[in-house]
Amino acid sequence: MLIILAAALIAQPAFAGDAAAGKALYAANCTACHGAAGNGKGAAAIALNPKPADFTSATFWAGKADDQVAASIKSGRPGTGMTAFTQLSDGDLANVTAYLRTFAPP
Ligand code: HEC
Repeated sequence: MLIILAAALIAQPAFAGDAAAGKALYAANCTACHGAAGNGKGAAAIALNPKPADFTSATFWAGKADDQVAASIKSGRPGTGMTAFTQLSDGDLANVTAYLRTFAPP
């Protein structure tokens, strides 16, 4: 049993988030600025400079690995509206990052 569980854990990719779980987290914490559609046009965005990141933009995703995106959510962007989400666990960060990926153009 233990061996099967260990094998299942090893089979997981290094950074695999659950987008469905991330969706709820996003709705609660991110929509106000980044928008329900992920395009950076949330209700609070009008007051922000720089504007919130647009997750529907290919430019946003270019060259970004999921672990880098997760790290930037955790640390935030000092001097901008993007506060540090240090309260999120590594699992939460992986899940919300997986959800952000669903906005990316194919
Ligand atoms: C109060 C507004 C606000 C909230 C809430 C917010 N963000 Fe942001 N976010 C921003 C702004 C503004 C930027 C752009 C910062 C910049 O251009 O330097 C940004 C940038 C980002 C970036 C890009 C960072 C980078 O390194 O380029 C990611 C990823 C991100 N946000 C994810 C999230 C996630 C996930 C949540 C919810 C857990 C969230 N944000 C909540 C305002 C917000």
